[in-house]
Amino acid sequence: MSKPSKKFDNDPNTTGHVWDGIEEFDNPMPRWWLWVFYVTIIWGIGYTIAYPAWPGIKGATAGVLGWSTRGDVVAEIQAAEDKLAPINAKLEAAELTQITTDPELGPYAVSAGDAVFKTWCAQCHGSGAAGAVGYPNLLDNDWLWGGDIENIYLTVRHGIRNEEDDDARYSEMPAFGDDYLEDAQIDAVVNFVMSLSGEPKDASVVVAGAEVFVDECSSCHMEDGTGDRDQGAPNLADAIWLYGGDYDSIKETVTYSRYGVMPSWGNRLTEAQVRAVSAYVHQLGGGE
Ligand code: HEC
Ligand code: HEC
Repeated sequence: MSKPSKKFDNDPNTTGHVWDGIEEFDNPMPRWWLWVFYVTIIWGIGYTIAYPAWPGIKGATAGVLGWSTRGDVVAEIQAAEDKLAPINAKLEAAELTQITTDPELGPYAVSAGDAVFKTWCAQCHGSGAAGAVGYPNLLDNDWLWGGDIENIYLTVRHGIRNEEDDDARYSEMPAFGDDYLEDAQIDAVVNFVMSLSGEPKDASVVVAGAEVFVDECSSCHMEDGTGDRDQGAPNLADAIWLYGGDYDSIKETVTYSRYGVMPSWGNRLTEAQVRAVSAYVHQLGGGE
């Protein structure tokens, strides 16, 4: 190790490191570089104070500015809602029957209703509203509870056979198995129901089935089997089936009954959303 040495007057000091006679100058860092370096440290500390940064057990520190990505989204949603507030207020004030024909409200309600439907209704009624076993098709003009806009609105707002809404539509078909009707009577009435819209499985019992039907079923489904919307009792004469129209499905319905439940939407969605989705369903094709 040789002593730090200077070859020329303006040479900086050396660090004292020598390698094969080559010495290392002790050059200070350029001042501008050092300042930038210090500023980035101060900036970094300031940033972690101002913004969410340090991870903790239950989440990161919030930062004194209170900023969050979630807050940004909330603000954006609020801005969008503020923009729609006037037309939503109009929608809430309009007569139900006027909505679809109103040149401004009609198109708005249908497209807003489409979005509501895809989010809240499609999982049961299908994204195209064609329904599934137990979940009615909303495209056809066969209605359990009524297909004019007022009835659709009531159905959507309060739901069906749920326990959360006192105004939910309610009715209950009794289960006729369990010793209430004999097996032969059930077999007969099932064949009669099949005969209303097509071929019975066993034509020889249809007459006996018609008698059972008048006694046990016509109070809800009417004598000709066309149903009663006040009770949500389906039309049995139209070959459109909620639970299936083959012998086994009808026998299961009559033996054990069914109990279709739809949630109430009035306490989940805004009034404007309920109206929009009702208008949307109404214009799907089966609206009355
Ligand atoms: C959890 C499943 C479920 C969801 C979600 C649901 N429904 Fe229903 N919906 C049903 C069932 C089941 C019925 C039939 C009940 C019955 O048997 O009377 C029904 C019936 C209806 C009816 C009556 C049809 C008729 O023939 O009278 C309408 C209208 C309706 N739903 C609209 C909607 C709308 C609009 C939404 C979304 C806001 C929705 N439903 C969400 C299950 C659901
Ligand atoms: C108290 C009223 C009531 C009586 C009485 C009644 N039903 Fe029903 N029935 C209903 C209701 C309401 C539904 C719809 C149930 C649902 O959607 O969950 C229904 C549904 C049905 C269905 C299913 C239709 C489909 O589209 O899948 C059949 C079939 C049926 N009933 C046959 C009968 C027969 C046969 C009798 C007599 C033995 C009878 N019902 C008596 C109210 C009644």
